[in-house]
Amino acid sequence: MVETSSTRAPFVPSANVAQLKESATIAVSARARALRAEGRNIIDLGAGEPDFETPEFIRRAAQRAIDAGATRYTATEGILSLRQAIAAQANASYSGEDAVHANDVVVSTGSKQSLFNACFVLFGEGDEVLIPTPSWTSYYEMVGLARATAVPVYGDQANGLKVTVAELEAAATPRTRGLMLNSPCNPTGAVYDSAELEAILTLAEDRGWWVISDEIYQRICYDGSAPSMLDVARTRDRLIVINGVAKAYAMTGWRIGWAIAPRAVAKTMTALQSHTTSNAAAVSQHAALAALTEHEVADTEVARMVDEFQARRDAVVRAVREEPELPYVHPDGAFYLYLDVGAVSGSADAGTAFAQHLIEHHDVAIVPGAAFLTPNWVRMSYAAPMEHVMTGIRRIVQAYRDMRG
Ligand SMILES: Cc1ncc(COP(=O)(O)O)c(C=O)c1O
Repeated sequence: MVETSSTRAPFVPSANVAQLKESATIAVSARARALRAEGRNIIDLGAGEPDFETPEFIRRAAQRAIDAGATRYTATEGILSLRQAIAAQANASYSGEDAVHANDVVVSTGSKQSLFNACFVLFGEGDEVLIPTPSWTSYYEMVGLARATAVPVYGDQANGLKVTVAELEAAATPRTRGLMLNSPCNPTGAVYDSAELEAILTLAEDRGWWVISDEIYQRICYDGSAPSMLDVARTRDRLIVINGVAKAYAMTGWRIGWAIAPRAVAKTMTALQSHTTSNAAAVSQHAALAALTEHEVADTEVARMVDEFQARRDAVVRAVREEPELPYVHPDGAFYLYLDVGAVSGSADAGTAFAQHLIEHHDVAIVPGAAFLTPNWVRMSYAAPMEHVMTGIRRIVQAYRDMRG
């Protein structure tokens, strides 16, 4: 019998992905694109990427690398010079036992892959992983793909939605194997100070938990610096630090991130990556090498972008203060403003109702807090030109006043 579409079995996703959800941040961008295609002038404040071009010295380094033959496979874990540069940068922060060596570094296709690799090699069926919440949407899915259970731990609004040791302890069970922390935080912009990081690390060490510290926004911070776990750690036995070039150097499309891990973990992550994607793109590794080693020009470029983000951060915070009823988390880093719109609707998902109203009636795209397991909230990104950011925040405040009635 000839097989036709009516006799073919329908596609049933495997158990591996049965629980997988589409990223809500991507869904908003898709809706913004669809409305733009209809001719609507949508202001997109949903995106999580710098609106700047990659600095010229990095683009030139990549062009030179192509001409010099960086067109082939590299070692799975990345070129030695880049791993050495990453290790040197880490050792400038870390003064504990067992200095970071290039062989403790695995370069991947974006920090997203490093985070996934870490979850996949550390966690499995029956394990629980604490996730300070709200948190970046992909953490929950990555832990799920490793067949472990993501356990959200909710931070207090009075503490910028950051979690405390007491809250982590209360959520722990004998099955807890680790936690994933992100500072500066997406979606809140909150920054954990050194004392907070040290307290969390000490708890994790006492309990034998793995700590995955996602520091991708570390260089984007205002009013002082955002500490790394490496600044406070005395050992790295159970610490995996994740970073990359995407946000600080406006290099999202180059796809370079890395993990700094204990040697045995790094080896296993490399083995996993060798069977999935192999090395990150060779030319992108050379571009990242320039970003990490041409310090003077790199620091100037990062400072220029951070200054611009800070001007926007100051402006949105001023605008939102004009509506004293609209609570928000004061952002000390990253490029997001997190707003509590719980008062606008009687529905359990006020953030989605608000975001839908905003895009359909005010032509502004933002991300509902449901994507970060906090459905009363919404996230606006200020990684967009100042005039878009200002028009967007004014419309947000206006829509909030209208909907609250
Ligand atoms: C908290 C967080 N971690 C990691 C990433 C992924 O960055 P990369 O482009 O390096 O994969 C993002 C991107 O939005 C992020 O917000």
